[in-house]
Amino acid sequence: MIIKSEKKQFKCGDILELEVDKLTYQGWGLARADGFAVFIKNACPKDILKARIVKLNKSYAHAEIVEIIKPSEHRVKPFCPIFNACGSCHWQFVDYAFGLEQKRQIIQEAFGHDYNVLPVLPSPQTKNYRLKVQCPARETKVSKRLLVGYFKEKSHDITDIKYCPIQPESLNDIVDYIRKNWSFGAYNEKTKKGLLKHIVLRQSSNNKGKSGEALLTVVLNARELKKRQYEEVTEFLKGVPNTAGCSINYNPENTNVIFADKFEHICGREFIFEKMKSFSGREFTYKISPQSFFQVNPYGASVLFDEVKKRVRPGANILDAYGGVGAIGIWVSDVAKNIVLVEENEEAVKNAKENFKLNGCKSYEVFLGDAKEKFKQFAREKRSFDHVILDPPRKGCDKEVLEVISKITDSIIYVSCNPQTLARDVKLLEEKGFSCKDIQGVDMFAHTYHVECVTVLEKAK
Ligand SMILES: C[S@@+](CC[C@H](N)C(=O)[O-])C[C@H]1O[C@@H](n2cnc3c(N)ncnc32)[C@H](O)[C@@H]1O
Repeated sequence: MIIKSEKKQFKCGDILELEVDKLTYQGWGLARADGFAVFIKNACPKDILKARIVKLNKSYAHAEIVEIIKPSEHRVKPFCPIFNACGSCHWQFVDYAFGLEQKRQIIQEAFGHDYNVLPVLPSPQTKNYRLKVQCPARETKVSKRLLVGYFKEKSHDITDIKYCPIQPESLNDIVDYIRKNWSFGAYNEKTKKGLLKHIVLRQSSNNKGKSGEALLTVVLNARELKKRQYEEVTEFLKGVPNTAGCSINYNPENTNVIFADKFEHICGREFIFEKMKSFSGREFTYKISPQSFFQVNPYGASVLFDEVKKRVRPGANILDAYGGVGAIGIWVSDVAKNIVLVEENEEAVKNAKENFKLNGCKSYEVFLGDAKEKFKQFAREKRSFDHVILDPPRKGCDKEVLEVISKITDSIIYVSCNPQTLARDVKLLEEKGFSCKDIQGVDMFAHTYHVECVTVLEKAK
């Protein structure tokens, strides 16, 4: 709500006195000035503040805080000293429990008020939880010092991050070793020259973030390396302490995609093992390669997978669509009759096949291929499933995918990291006769605005 503004025609540079209403999906606080939406970075609901308009559109403005007149009771001190400069956490200044309720409301707004959105389940660990790290690397103009960290919001300038409390210390240490010792140059987006583009690390939770169980991949701006440089770079990688194994990914294209297709394993292991415990006490083990998708927060993932399992009917024949290394399919396999997994990433499929065996699963099939094509094939073969577990990438499913899924099952357990595309897909499935009882949020990304959701869609019989 607006507290004090003398004019209704706003312009950039105007300073408004506002009370913040809520947090929004992109992480910003929302206040209203004469009905006009003002999104304010790092603003907490119930803050009374002065904010300067920095960007103006027809129906909304972006603003930055000039002064907090009365801080909200939900404000806390960010625990990271570089929270403001970094930008990869959005809500460290918000009390964790209150942030979870804001996430619930974000889901509610994406769906509308006719839907039952349950309280968001917390992540069992809210610091040191991000076990997959993808840091861009660049260098300073003059001294050519290596900068490794995260891009500042809406920019390609890097904040050099020596310590991140969201990651385990062992990963911070590996990044810091590379920062201090890499001498082969880093990528420059303007000239498209320079070697090191990204450092990617994947750690398992087994040893609580202690060293030794991390896979390191360096992404290089090259199709291949000349002999001398190859020898030097591989020698360097062999000397990086506390890694389980190292690889190179060759990515000479100027794109936002981190990995290109060509990987070369250099030393150590080509995989790590992640062990996770279900609420039943059962432990599951997953073999994961650097190329395969796996949830960044395995602590929160146990909660998520248990929520999926609670929604599975015992003895069900299940299609685990977009199945990755088999994380969810295997988790529910002890209550199911049979699991069929479909995944397009070749390495993930190799991991999945081994993971089913590793976890003693008896009845499963694993298919490499595009989900839509595979679903169409199942429909042609008149093959049906008691549940389809649907866990697509952020963009959700296209209409054709939903159309064909509705032909092969009457029950979809939809897992999504994007409430907006989930709500869109749920509404499309409702047009096909499905209905959704409730939506359960799970916090996998503490201190950010992101939230994972699980919902069941059943077709009336
Ligand atoms: C959000 S991840 C979920 C993986 C898995 N369910 C888990 O929890 O670990 C989505 C997965 O879908 C795969 N994928 C993306 N597009 C696909 C497609 N068109 N067909 C099959 N798999 C696809 C990705 O490689 C990734 O492994």
